[in-house]
Amino acid sequence: MARTKKLRMFLFATLMVFFLLTGCNSESSGSGNEGSSSDSGAKEDKIVVGFSQIGAESGWRTAETESIKETLGNDPQYKLKFSDAQQKQENQIKALRSFIAQKVDVIALAPVVESGWETVLQEAKNSGIPVILLDRGIDVEDESLYTSFIGSDFIVEGENAAKELIKLMGKDSQVNIVELQGTVGASAANDRMEGFANIIKEHPNYKIIKSQSGDFTRSKGKEVMEAFLKSDGENIDAVYAHNDDMALGAIQAIEEYGLKPGEDIKIVSVDGIKDIFEAVIAGKSNIIVECNPLLGPQLAQAAKDLHAGKEIEKWIKTEEEVFVGKEEAEAALPSRKY
Ligand code: AHR
Repeated sequence: MARTKKLRMFLFATLMVFFLLTGCNSESSGSGNEGSSSDSGAKEDKIVVGFSQIGAESGWRTAETESIKETLGNDPQYKLKFSDAQQKQENQIKALRSFIAQKVDVIALAPVVESGWETVLQEAKNSGIPVILLDRGIDVEDESLYTSFIGSDFIVEGENAAKELIKLMGKDSQVNIVELQGTVGASAANDRMEGFANIIKEHPNYKIIKSQSGDFTRSKGKEVMEAFLKSDGENIDAVYAHNDDMALGAIQAIEEYGLKPGEDIKIVSVDGIKDIFEAVIAGKSNIIVECNPLLGPQLAQAAKDLHAGKEIEKWIKTEEEVFVGKEEAEAALPSRKY
Protein backbone atom coordinates (compact mmCIF):
# COMPACT_ATOMS: atom_id res chain seq x y z
CA MET A 1 0.00 0.00 0.00
CA ALA A 2 2.81 2.43 1.00
CA ARG A 3 4.51 1.87 -2.38
CA THR A 4 1.24 2.56 -4.29
CA LYS A 5 0.76 5.80 -2.34
CA LYS A 6 4.33 6.89 -3.09
CA LEU A 7 3.82 6.07 -6.77
CA ARG A 8 0.59 8.15 -6.85
CA MET A 9 2.33 11.08 -5.21
CA PHE A 10 5.19 10.84 -7.68
CA LEU A 11 2.76 10.80 -10.63
CA PHE A 12 0.83 13.77 -9.18
CA ALA A 13 4.05 15.77 -8.70
CA THR A 14 5.19 14.95 -12.26
CA LEU A 15 1.83 16.09 -13.65
CA MET A 16 1.99 19.35 -11.68
CA VAL A 17 5.47 20.12 -13.06
CA PHE A 18 4.22 19.33 -16.59
CA PHE A 19 1.24 21.72 -16.26
CA LEU A 20 3.38 24.45 -14.78
CA LEU A 21 5.83 24.20 -17.67
CA THR A 22 3.28 24.04 -20.49
CA GLY A 23 -0.05 25.42 -19.28
CA CYS A 24 0.90 29.09 -18.97
CA ASN A 25 1.60 29.38 -22.69
CA SER A 26 -1.74 28.10 -24.00
CA GLU A 27 -2.88 31.55 -25.18
CA SER A 28 0.20 32.50 -27.10
CA SER A 29 -0.42 30.85 -30.42
CA GLY A 30 -3.06 29.18 -32.49
CA SER A 31 -2.30 26.31 -34.80
CA GLY A 32 0.12 27.14 -37.62
CA ASN A 33 0.32 30.85 -38.24
CA GLU A 34 -2.91 31.98 -36.62
CA GLY A 35 -2.15 34.22 -33.75
CA SER A 36 1.39 34.25 -32.46
CA SER A 37 1.13 36.53 -29.47
CA SER A 38 3.57 39.19 -28.39
CA ASP A 39 2.59 38.58 -24.77
CA SER A 40 2.18 35.42 -22.76
CA GLY A 41 0.47 37.03 -19.75
CA ALA A 42 -3.04 36.40 -18.48
CA LYS A 43 -5.93 37.51 -20.69
CA GLU A 44 -8.55 38.74 -18.19
CA ASP A 45 -8.19 42.51 -18.04
CA LYS A 46 -6.30 43.06 -21.28
CA ILE A 47 -7.83 44.15 -24.55
CA VAL A 48 -7.10 41.22 -26.83
CA VAL A 49 -6.60 42.27 -30.46
CA GLY A 50 -6.23 39.68 -33.23
CA PHE A 51 -4.49 41.23 -36.25
CA SER A 52 -4.46 39.54 -39.63
CA GLN A 53 -1.70 41.14 -41.69
CA ILE A 54 -1.34 40.65 -45.48
CA GLY A 55 2.36 39.79 -45.55
CA ALA A 56 5.63 41.66 -45.98
CA GLU A 57 5.63 42.65 -49.66
CA SER A 58 6.92 46.21 -49.23
CA GLY A 59 8.78 48.63 -46.98
CA TRP A 60 5.42 50.24 -46.26
CA ARG A 61 3.93 46.94 -45.06
CA THR A 62 6.90 46.27 -42.77
CA ALA A 63 6.50 49.74 -41.25
CA GLU A 64 2.79 49.09 -40.63
CA THR A 65 3.52 45.76 -38.91
CA GLU A 66 6.20 47.37 -36.72
CA SER A 67 3.91 50.25 -35.76
CA ILE A 68 1.19 47.84 -34.62
CA LYS A 69 3.55 45.46 -32.83
CA GLU A 70 5.30 48.34 -31.06
CA THR A 71 2.14 50.16 -30.00
CA LEU A 72 0.05 47.22 -28.86
CA GLY A 73 2.91 44.92 -27.90
CA ASN A 74 4.56 47.46 -25.58
CA ASP A 75 1.41 48.60 -23.83
CA PRO A 76 0.30 46.37 -20.94
CA GLN A 77 -3.35 47.24 -21.61
CA TYR A 78 -3.29 45.15 -24.79
CA LYS A 79 -2.53 41.64 -25.85
CA LEU A 80 -1.74 41.30 -29.56
CA LYS A 81 -2.26 38.13 -31.54
CA PHE A 82 -0.49 38.54 -34.87
CA SER A 83 -0.97 36.47 -38.01
CA ASP A 84 0.88 36.85 -41.34
CA ALA A 85 -1.24 35.68 -44.30
CA GLN A 86 1.58 35.62 -46.84
CA GLN A 87 -0.59 37.35 -49.46
CA LYS A 88 -3.36 34.73 -49.30
CA GLN A 89 -6.98 35.59 -48.56
CA GLU A 90 -7.64 31.98 -47.48
CA ASN A 91 -4.99 32.38 -44.74
CA GLN A 92 -6.68 35.57 -43.58
CA ILE A 93 -10.07 33.86 -43.39
CA LYS A 94 -8.50 31.02 -41.39
CA ALA A 95 -6.85 33.52 -39.03
CA LEU A 96 -10.14 35.37 -38.50
CA ARG A 97 -11.90 32.10 -37.64
CA SER A 98 -9.14 31.29 -35.19
CA PHE A 99 -9.50 34.74 -33.56
CA ILE A 100 -13.27 34.21 -33.31
CA ALA A 101 -12.73 30.80 -31.68
CA GLN A 102 -10.28 32.41 -29.23
CA LYS A 103 -12.91 35.07 -28.43
CA VAL A 104 -10.59 38.04 -28.95
CA ASP A 105 -12.06 41.46 -28.08
CA VAL A 106 -11.32 43.11 -31.43
CA ILE A 107 -10.25 41.84 -34.84
CA ALA A 108 -8.03 44.02 -37.02
CA LEU A 109 -7.90 43.03 -40.68
CA ALA A 110 -5.70 44.40 -43.47
CA PRO A 111 -7.58 42.75 -46.34
CA VAL A 112 -5.39 41.60 -49.22
CA VAL A 113 -8.26 41.96 -51.73
CA GLU A 114 -11.60 43.79 -51.68
CA SER A 115 -14.07 40.96 -52.32
CA GLY A 116 -15.03 37.68 -50.66
CA TRP A 117 -15.30 38.70 -47.00
CA GLU A 118 -19.05 38.46 -46.28
CA THR A 119 -19.20 34.97 -44.76
CA VAL A 120 -16.35 35.30 -42.28
CA LEU A 121 -17.34 38.84 -41.30
CA GLN A 122 -20.87 37.64 -40.63
CA GLU A 123 -19.37 34.97 -38.35
CA ALA A 124 -17.45 37.67 -36.43
CA LYS A 125 -20.60 39.79 -36.21
CA ASN A 126 -22.65 36.83 -34.93
CA SER A 127 -20.00 36.33 -32.23
CA GLY A 128 -20.21 40.00 -31.26
CA ILE A 129 -16.56 40.70 -32.16
CA PRO A 130 -16.00 44.10 -33.84
CA VAL A 131 -13.82 44.12 -36.95
CA ILE A 132 -11.59 47.09 -37.78
CA LEU A 133 -10.27 47.25 -41.34
CA LEU A 134 -6.74 48.54 -41.57
CA ASP A 135 -5.28 50.43 -44.56
CA ARG A 136 -7.21 48.58 -47.32
CA GLY A 137 -10.96 48.63 -47.80
CA ILE A 138 -13.43 45.92 -48.78
CA ASP A 139 -16.36 45.77 -51.16
CA VAL A 140 -19.47 44.67 -49.21
CA GLU A 141 -23.09 45.72 -49.56
CA ASP A 142 -23.76 45.44 -45.84
CA GLU A 143 -21.42 47.92 -44.21
CA SER A 144 -22.43 46.76 -40.75
CA LEU A 145 -20.15 43.75 -41.31
CA TYR A 146 -17.24 45.89 -40.15
CA THR A 147 -17.09 48.52 -37.45
CA SER A 148 -14.54 50.95 -38.80
CA PHE A 149 -11.89 51.52 -41.45
CA ILE A 150 -8.57 53.13 -40.48
CA GLY A 151 -6.57 54.33 -43.46
CA SER A 152 -6.00 56.64 -46.38
CA ASP A 153 -8.12 57.78 -49.29
CA PHE A 154 -6.44 55.85 -52.11
CA ILE A 155 -8.53 57.60 -54.78
CA VAL A 156 -7.20 60.97 -53.63
CA GLU A 157 -3.67 59.53 -53.68
CA GLY A 158 -4.11 58.51 -57.33
CA GLU A 159 -5.56 61.93 -58.17
CA ASN A 160 -2.65 63.70 -56.45
CA ALA A 161 -0.14 61.54 -58.33
CA ALA A 162 -1.70 62.59 -61.66
CA LYS A 163 -2.04 66.28 -60.73
CA GLU A 164 1.59 66.56 -59.65
CA LEU A 165 2.83 64.71 -62.73
CA ILE A 166 0.89 67.10 -64.99
CA LYS A 167 2.31 70.09 -63.09
CA LEU A 168 5.84 68.69 -63.45
CA MET A 169 5.62 67.84 -67.14
CA GLY A 170 3.39 70.70 -68.28
CA LYS A 171 -0.27 70.42 -69.16
CA ASP A 172 0.35 70.84 -72.90
CA SER A 173 3.07 68.19 -73.23
CA GLN A 174 2.49 64.88 -74.97
CA VAL A 175 3.15 62.31 -72.25
CA ASN A 176 3.15 58.53 -72.51
CA ILE A 177 2.78 56.88 -69.12
CA VAL A 178 3.31 53.30 -68.02
CA GLU A 179 1.49 52.22 -64.87
CA LEU A 180 2.75 49.65 -62.36
CA GLN A 181 -0.35 48.46 -60.55
CA GLY A 182 -0.49 46.95 -57.08
CA THR A 183 -1.88 43.52 -56.21
CA VAL A 184 -4.80 42.58 -58.45
CA GLY A 185 -8.10 43.02 -56.60
CA ALA A 186 -6.62 45.12 -53.76
CA SER A 187 -8.40 48.36 -52.91
CA ALA A 188 -5.01 50.12 -52.90
CA ALA A 189 -4.55 49.14 -56.55
CA ASN A 190 -8.15 49.64 -57.73
CA ASP A 191 -8.54 53.06 -56.12
CA ARG A 192 -5.12 54.41 -57.07
CA MET A 193 -5.84 53.37 -60.65
CA GLU A 194 -9.26 55.04 -60.54
CA GLY A 195 -7.99 58.28 -58.97
CA PHE A 196 -5.17 58.66 -61.49
CA ALA A 197 -7.52 57.94 -64.41
CA ASN A 198 -10.04 60.53 -63.11
CA ILE A 199 -7.51 63.30 -63.68
CA ILE A 200 -5.77 61.93 -66.77
CA LYS A 201 -9.03 61.65 -68.70
CA GLU A 202 -9.33 65.45 -68.64
CA HIS A 203 -5.94 65.68 -70.42
CA PRO A 204 -6.08 63.79 -73.72
CA ASN A 205 -2.39 64.47 -74.39
CA TYR A 206 -1.56 62.30 -71.34
CA LYS A 207 -1.88 58.62 -72.26
CA ILE A 208 -1.47 55.45 -70.22
CA ILE A 209 0.15 53.24 -72.86
CA LYS A 210 0.74 50.18 -70.64
CA SER A 211 -0.64 49.09 -67.28
CA GLN A 212 0.19 45.88 -65.44
CA SER A 213 0.43 44.53 -61.91
CA GLY A 214 3.83 44.41 -60.21
CA ASP A 215 2.28 42.98 -57.02
CA PHE A 216 3.57 45.87 -54.88
CA THR A 217 7.05 44.26 -54.86
CA ARG A 218 10.42 45.58 -55.96
CA SER A 219 11.35 42.46 -57.94
CA LYS A 220 8.04 42.28 -59.84
CA GLY A 221 8.10 46.04 -60.45
CA LYS A 222 11.52 45.63 -62.07
CA GLU A 223 10.40 42.65 -64.13
CA VAL A 224 7.29 44.41 -65.47
CA MET A 225 9.25 47.61 -66.21
CA GLU A 226 11.82 45.56 -68.17
CA ALA A 227 9.00 44.21 -70.32
CA PHE A 228 7.57 47.74 -70.82
CA LEU A 229 11.00 49.02 -71.87
CA LYS A 230 11.47 46.13 -74.25
CA SER A 231 8.20 46.84 -76.06
CA ASP A 232 8.01 50.65 -75.75
CA GLY A 233 11.43 51.82 -74.51
CA GLU A 234 11.94 55.12 -76.34
CA ASN A 235 8.24 56.00 -76.12
CA ILE A 236 7.94 56.05 -72.35
CA ASP A 237 7.94 59.50 -70.73
CA ALA A 238 6.73 58.66 -67.22
CA VAL A 239 6.10 55.84 -64.76
CA TYR A 240 3.18 55.88 -62.33
CA ALA A 241 3.86 53.22 -59.67
CA HIS A 242 1.17 52.34 -57.11
CA ASN A 243 3.94 51.99 -54.53
CA ASP A 244 7.56 52.98 -53.94
CA ASP A 245 8.95 49.47 -54.02
CA MET A 246 7.75 48.94 -57.59
CA ALA A 247 9.14 52.38 -58.51
CA LEU A 248 12.51 51.38 -57.05
CA GLY A 249 12.44 48.20 -59.14
CA ALA A 250 11.55 50.30 -62.21
CA ILE A 251 14.48 52.65 -61.51
CA GLN A 252 16.88 49.70 -61.68
CA ALA A 253 15.30 48.45 -64.91
CA ILE A 254 15.56 51.91 -66.53
CA GLU A 255 19.22 52.23 -65.55
CA GLU A 256 20.03 48.77 -66.87
CA TYR A 257 18.25 49.69 -70.11
CA GLY A 258 20.60 52.66 -70.46
CA LEU A 259 18.25 55.56 -69.70
CA LYS A 260 18.23 57.97 -66.76
CA PRO A 261 15.34 57.49 -64.31
CA GLY A 262 14.03 60.83 -63.06
CA GLU A 263 15.33 62.60 -66.19
CA ASP A 264 14.62 60.61 -69.36
CA ILE A 265 11.67 58.95 -67.66
CA LYS A 266 9.90 60.80 -64.83
CA ILE A 267 8.65 58.80 -61.88
CA VAL A 268 5.77 59.27 -59.48
CA SER A 269 4.96 56.73 -56.75
CA VAL A 270 2.89 56.29 -53.60
CA ASP A 271 3.96 55.49 -49.98
CA GLY A 272 6.91 57.65 -48.86
CA ILE A 273 9.45 55.11 -47.59
CA LYS A 274 12.98 56.39 -46.88
CA ASP A 275 14.46 54.62 -49.93
CA ILE A 276 12.32 56.63 -52.33
CA PHE A 277 13.24 59.90 -50.60
CA GLU A 278 16.87 58.94 -51.21
CA ALA A 279 16.10 58.16 -54.85
CA VAL A 280 14.45 61.58 -55.31
CA ILE A 281 17.43 63.29 -53.65
CA ALA A 282 19.71 61.39 -56.07
CA GLY A 283 17.59 62.71 -58.96
CA LYS A 284 16.33 59.23 -59.90
CA SER A 285 12.67 59.78 -59.02
CA ASN A 286 10.47 62.86 -58.94
CA ILE A 287 7.21 62.78 -56.97
CA ILE A 288 6.26 61.05 -53.71
CA VAL A 289 2.61 60.75 -52.70
CA GLU A 290 2.66 59.84 -49.03
CA CYS A 291 0.50 57.06 -47.56
CA ASN A 292 0.87 56.68 -43.82
CA PRO A 293 1.52 53.12 -42.51
CA LEU A 294 1.96 54.11 -38.85
CA LEU A 295 -1.51 52.99 -37.86
CA GLY A 296 -0.66 51.42 -34.47
CA PRO A 297 -1.73 54.38 -32.30
CA GLN A 298 -5.06 54.79 -34.12
CA LEU A 299 -5.78 51.06 -33.88
CA ALA A 300 -4.94 51.05 -30.17
CA GLN A 301 -7.26 54.00 -29.51
CA ALA A 302 -10.09 52.48 -31.55
CA ALA A 303 -9.78 49.11 -29.75
CA LYS A 304 -9.77 50.88 -26.38
CA ASP A 305 -12.86 52.94 -27.25
CA LEU A 306 -14.75 49.88 -28.45
CA HIS A 307 -13.75 47.99 -25.32
CA ALA A 308 -15.15 50.87 -23.25
CA GLY A 309 -18.43 50.63 -25.18
CA LYS A 310 -17.87 53.88 -27.09
CA GLU A 311 -18.85 54.44 -30.70
CA ILE A 312 -16.04 55.06 -33.16
CA GLU A 313 -16.02 56.74 -36.57
CA LYS A 314 -16.76 54.57 -39.59
CA TRP A 315 -13.69 55.97 -41.42
CA ILE A 316 -10.71 57.10 -39.35
CA LYS A 317 -8.66 58.93 -41.98
CA THR A 318 -4.90 59.36 -41.97
CA GLU A 319 -3.12 62.64 -42.78
CA GLU A 320 -0.80 62.69 -45.77
CA GLU A 321 1.44 64.97 -47.84
CA VAL A 322 2.98 65.12 -51.31
CA PHE A 323 6.71 65.77 -51.87
CA VAL A 324 8.03 66.99 -55.21
CA GLY A 325 11.69 67.20 -56.21
CA LYS A 326 15.06 67.14 -54.45
CA GLU A 327 14.59 70.11 -52.12
CA GLU A 328 11.36 68.89 -50.58
CA ALA A 329 12.75 65.35 -50.25
CA GLU A 330 15.93 66.62 -48.59
CA ALA A 331 14.00 68.74 -46.12
CA ALA A 332 11.69 65.85 -45.18
CA LEU A 333 14.11 62.90 -45.02
CA PRO A 334 15.65 63.54 -41.58
CA SER A 335 12.26 63.34 -39.89
CA ARG A 336 10.90 60.35 -41.84
CA LYS A 337 9.94 57.51 -39.52
CA TYR A 338 9.69 54.72 -42.08
O1 AHR B 1 -2.37 48.91 -48.81
C1 AHR B 1 -1.30 49.78 -48.84
C2 AHR B 1 -0.30 49.35 -49.87
O2 AHR B 1 0.10 48.03 -49.65
C3 AHR B 1 0.99 50.12 -49.87
O3 AHR B 1 0.92 51.27 -50.65
C4 AHR B 1 1.90 49.15 -50.50
O4 AHR B 1 3.26 49.46 -50.41
C5 AHR B 1 1.51 47.96 -49.72
O5 AHR B 1 2.07 46.82 -49.99
